[in-house]
Amino acid sequence: MVIKHLNLIQFRNYKRLQLDFSDSLNILIGENAVGKTNILEAIEVLALTKSHRTNDSNLLMYTKNIAKVKGKIITGKIIKKLEIELSKEGKKLKINNTSISKVSDYISSLNVIVFSPDDIEIIKGSPSIRRNLLNMELSQISKTYLTTYNQFNKLLKTRNEYLKILYTNHIADKNYFQILTDKLIEKEIFIYQKRKEYIDAINFYIENIFKDIHSSFSLQIQYEPNLIFSSYQTEDMRETLRSIYEKNYNKELNYGMTLYGPHRDDFSLYLDGKDLKIYGSQGQQKAAILSYKLACVPIFEEQTGTKPILLLDDVFSELDGKKQNKLLKYIGNDIQSILTTTDVKNVRKSLLKEANILKVTSGIIERKI
Ligand SMILES: Nc1ncnc2c1ncn2[C@@H]1O[C@H](COP(=O)(O)OP(=O)(O)O)[C@@H](O)[C@H]1O
Ligand SMILES: [Mg+2]
Repeated sequence: MVIKHLNLIQFRNYKRLQLDFSDSLNILIGENAVGKTNILEAIEVLALTKSHRTNDSNLLMYTKNIAKVKGKIITGKIIKKLEIELSKEGKKLKINNTSISKVSDYISSLNVIVFSPDDIEIIKGSPSIRRNLLNMELSQISKTYLTTYNQFNKLLKTRNEYLKILYTNHIADKNYFQILTDKLIEKEIFIYQKRKEYIDAINFYIENIFKDIHSSFSLQIQYEPNLIFSSYQTEDMRETLRSIYEKNYNKELNYGMTLYGPHRDDFSLYLDGKDLKIYGSQGQQKAAILSYKLACVPIFEEQTGTKPILLLDDVFSELDGKKQNKLLKYIGNDIQSILTTTDVKNVRKSLLKEANILKVTSGIIERKI
């Protein structure tokens, strides 16, 4: 899929903006703080209904009460007009001028893979950052994942509340608690299986990508749930989860919360068998995350039948000239990518020949010919 046109109204530092993109490489060039990241952020918001770097109210232009992001998306022969209106009262979503009330009916109209300098947190930050990443990616490729995950969250909340009731009131209905646990287990099995499948697929691609864009170390990702499954077969998992909850009933009762489940999942990246979080240089960590994001591309394509759009924010920093060229060569022309940078002085002219180069100067964008 490609985004052909973007229209911003009172979004961040753009009062009004109309922008056309080409179907392959687009490069936004400009000094710091002119609004390059804001463009990528607007596309991210249009795709995912939110920005990974902030809450909605910061997206409105200072002093304004409303902002709009609109885009024209083409997938094969299908043209979709997407629109999101942000205001202090909340947000409104539209597809082809029709209001959409459920986020799950909107997501996946525009699929994006975002690489940003904050992504270093995927390695350095808390497990919740990694879980959010998996959720965001799996929600784009599977509506069932998104709805199951929402159901899981509701059940988890109810089960936690009920654990607190059971703690203080010993005559509370234990049957109801068992029913809740069984229902939760079914949702958990699905989430675990999808995440496992996804991480296995990343492993299939990531090693070669890392070699292509960086160096010949072996990069692997490891899924790390907070309990051990003998297999990811539904029956085995059901048995394991039932016995975990049974054995830890008193512990969970004392804590007043569910201690085992996909809400405690994590994953780690290993370079030549060593944990990147502990042993990796900043450059290796960044290249590993970039490889992870690029590994998502073929997975998205397999699952949705179309390539996602790559949004690469400030991707050249920390890559020397040689690696910048390797990256552009790797990405190629058969995917739409939108990249921001302060300069392209290290990039080979032949790689820039086909690129749509857009010059950004504080809130204004011009096409460079
Ligand atoms: N809500 C907002 N309203 C108006 N301007 C904003 C808002 N948020 C950020 N900005 C401005 O946007 C600019 C930063 O944009 P950004 O896209 O991060 O720059 P860069 O080109 O470095 O990526 C700054 O000048 C900042 O003042
Ligand atoms: Mg920026």
